Parts: sequence; structure tokens; C-alpha cells
Amino acid sequence: MPGYLRPETAQGQFLNFAKLLEFNQQSMPFASASIGKSFRNEISPRAGLLRVREFLMAEIEHYVDPEGGKKHPRFVEVKDLEMSLLDRNVQLSGSTKTTKMTIGQAVETGLVDNETLGYFLGRIQLFLLKLGIDLNKLRFRQHMANEMAHYAADCWDAELQTSYGWIECVGCADRSAYDLTVHKNKTGAPLVVRATRAEPLRIEEYQIDLEKKKFGPRFKKDAKAVESAIDALSQELREKLSLDLEKDGKIEIEVAGVGSGKVELEKDLITIEKRTRVDNVREYTPNVIEPSFGIGRIMYSMIEHVYWSREGDEARGVLSFPPSIAPTKVLLVPLSTNPAFKPLTQRLTSKLRRLGVSNRVDDSSASIGKRYARNDELGTPFGITVDFQSVKDNTFTLRDRDSTKQVRASEDEILAALKSLTDGDETWADVAKRLPEFTGQEVE
Ligand code: GLY
Repeated sequence: MPGYLRPETAQGQFLNFAKLLEFNQQSMPFASASIGKSFRNEISPRAGLLRVREFLMAEIEHYVDPEGGKKHPRFVEVKDLEMSLLDRNVQLSGSTKTTKMTIGQAVETGLVDNETLGYFLGRIQLFLLKLGIDLNKLRFRQHMANEMAHYAADCWDAELQTSYGWIECVGCADRSAYDLTVHKNKTGAPLVVRATRAEPLRIEEYQIDLEKKKFGPRFKKDAKAVESAIDALSQELREKLSLDLEKDGKIEIEVAGVGSGKVELEKDLITIEKRTRVDNVREYTPNVIEPSFGIGRIMYSMIEHVYWSREGDEARGVLSFPPSIAPTKVLLVPLSTNPAFKPLTQRLTSKLRRLGVSNRVDDSSASIGKRYARNDELGTPFGITVDFQSVKDNTFTLRDRDSTKQVRASEDEILAALKSLTDGDETWADVAKRLPEFTGQEVE
């Protein structure tokens, strides 16, 4: 059997749509998400993590009712977000000049087709900024009509500027009902939502009744085929046949494979009447809005965006990972190898572990400055020094990687500050405002 490598995680989610809807108690809208490897037949893989045949992809499939303009209940939370947009008309004119506008304006003017698509564009921007992406190196580019994937009704890419140029890192497509419809047509499995109508629908239609007691004995083994052919008759044909039946007392319908292919039905076998049916349920195929993240590309771009070196010293590199994503949040630096510092360092490290703040101890004999410089290069956002003042009064210095500023406070205050800094509840500026600045030398 041949094997196939998936080019996106999306299809696995679409195939499971009926189950996912059931897990969500049949209620709309809802989303599914998947992360895993995807594969592309890149003719010439290059540019490190940027153009590869196998890559990590994370995709959200948000299912929305197409009726009512694809509104999103939380759009209000992002509508004032200012974004750099490069729409397809600007690109057609040969320009790459972005327009800054709020996502609210972009949806209002129809530049971005609907609220749900706009909501996810806003959330993508917020997510990227949280990772440390530079807002000045982020733009959203609309796909040209001839560039859009076959499934997309509209598509915007979040592009990040790197030393390789502008790189597509997140795609956000309105896939309309394309995928669910294609799967449904191929497999026959109904990938639809059944929703109770707010107002019942009254439908005038031609309905057919069969005289079952006579119908069975008359057509015997062909009865089922004849009945299916009758069920499949269009409303237009039913109207015409009802008039024929009235006029001639019989009608003729086509039934493939039975007799000559035509079957006669008399008045005593069939009735065709115009009646009113009340429909309380609306059946529809949801539309899909899909944010699709290339994890390797985002990681690569983010690392480029947060890397810088201290003024006047190219060799002193700093990786300004935001605290939330830095692998190690705090470095513990005892001033020297003096055994008096050991119990304090041990206590701090175990308390930090209990708080869920990942930390490392650097008790090598290198100078404090060297140890902090090493740490800046690794992207660790904070550092605590244990010195002789700490042994005396249980106070510690806390250092901010980016500004190299320090504060000095009690153990409890330092631990609480670190917890709120790494949880994202406070910034360094908040902490520096409420804890006393430390400008001196650690006490030797
Ligand atoms: N699912 C989006 C993409 O494959 O690019």
C-alpha cells in the first residue's frame, strides 16, 4: 500500500467533525486544534528552519454558522487593536506599503471579510507580541486571488521580517464550507449542524402518499426501486405529475432497471397533494476559519527579534526572551564559593521550585559580571545574588536582564516579585517602582 504524508493537520480535524460537534453538545460555534508534523514537497529546502520538508504545525479550526455575517462574540476585545495591513489592491499596484488601522475598521470597511476572521487576526497579533515578536517587524498580508489555496475564500498571512526578508509564519484563512462539503460528498457522512430555528419555517410543497397495500403486490421485487424513484422526484415534476394524475387518472415515471425503464401508476396507488410542512430545524454546513501556525518559523523569527548586544560591546549578546517563555526564569548567583551561602541558595532554589519558577544555580568561580553576561546570552530574564548581607539579614538583590537594574528586598518580597513577573502579572517597571533600587556592590 502506498503511504501518504499529510501537508496540514486540518483534514484529520475535519474528518472528525461529527464527533467533535457531539463532544461540544451539538452547540456552535466551537473550535478544534491540533499540533504535529506536516510535510511539503519543497523542491529546494533551505534557509535553516524556514524552508523545510518536515515541520511542526499548529492549527485551529473554528466552526461558524455562515448565516448572520460570521460575527464573533469576543470581537469587541480585539477591535481597537492597531495592525499593519497589506491588502491585495496595494500589492496589485506594485507596492508593499502597509496601512495601519484597527482591526475593527478593517472589518467595518470590508477589507477583512468578517468578524470571526478579524478576531483571529487580532488574536494572532497578540500571541506573537506575547512571544517577543517586534511589532515593527510584523505585517498582515492578504493573499492575491491567484495565490489563494483552492479551499480559501479569503486568507491573510502574518509575516515576520527577518534577515531572510518577510517570512510567512501564520496563515489565517476563511475556508468557507469547502472541506466539510467535499468530505461529505465523497463519504456520504453528513458533516452538518442541525439547529433549532428561532422562527419555524412554513414550507408549501407537493407531498406523495402511496397506497402501500396495493403497491407491494403490484411491483413485488421492484417495489423498493419504484419507491426510491418516486421519493427522488423534484418539486417541479411533482407539480406537473399531480396535474397529469388529475387529468388522466394515471402517471408515468422513469425507474431505471425496471421493465422498459418506465412505470405506470394509477390513481388508486398514488396521491400527490400540495400541503404545508412546518420545519423547526435548520441544517447547514459550518464555515471554517483557520489560523495555522508554523512553529519553527515563529521560533526562528522570534529569536532574531529578541537578540541584541549591549551598547559598545558586540560580544555581549542578550536574548530578551519574555519571562513567560524563557526556559529558565531566574539564575541564582552566590557571590563566591564561601560555604555560608550554600544553605541560602538551597532554600531559595527549593522555594522557587515549589512556586513553579524554573531556576538554575551558577556557583562557578567566574566573576559575577561574567556569570550574568553568560546568563543574558541564554535569555534568562532575572538573577538573584546571594551575598554576605543576605547571610546577615536575609535580603537579596534581584536583577533585570534587559536593563541590568537591581532592587534589594527581603526573601519573601523577592520570591513574590519573581512569581508575579513570571506569571505576567507585573513587569519589571512595576517591581522597580515598589521595591528599593540597589545601586551598590554586593557585600563581599
Ligand atoms: N492549513 C493551512 C496550510 O496548510 O497552509
